[in-house]
Amino acid sequence: MKIAIGNDHAGVEMKNMLVKFIEDKFGYEVINIGTDTEDSVDYPLYGRKVAQLVASKEADKGIVICGTGIGISIAANKVKGVRAALCKDVYTAEMTRKHNDANVLALGARTTSLDEAIDIANVWLTTDFEGGRHQRRVEMIEG
Ligand code: RB5
Repeated sequence: MKIAIGNDHAGVEMKNMLVKFIEDKFGYEVINIGTDTEDSVDYPLYGRKVAQLVASKEADKGIVICGTGIGISIAANKVKGVRAALCKDVYTAEMTRKHNDANVLALGARTTSLDEAIDIANVWLTTDFEGGRHQRRVEMIEG
């Protein structure tokens, strides 16, 4: 399993913690395309890059992080085939895998604690899509 992860300057600490968590707990390969310093950068570039890696299947799933998670999720969702979900709790993280087959998780580094982010990512990475009636609805999103 390959996980692409990208972030702007607001998300460096959360990104580093999640990379370690994912490698240590799951042994997955993490492709880090995010910035690694707190110098200001433009979140759309990182949202798009992670989304492109997922859409091209170079990565199985993606995680994107900015201050609120909003801007970078909007950018990721512009890439065809990508369903990026901004999650602030474990319930929505679970449901967006089960019902929406979300392939990118968005997190807000200024709105979500590091402990919450671990719990959210853990549930999101371990929950499968339910398929069934949800498959048809997911197909409808693509149009
Ligand atoms: C950067 O200051 C901030 O705008 C960005 O991290 C994000 O929150 C945008 O949605």
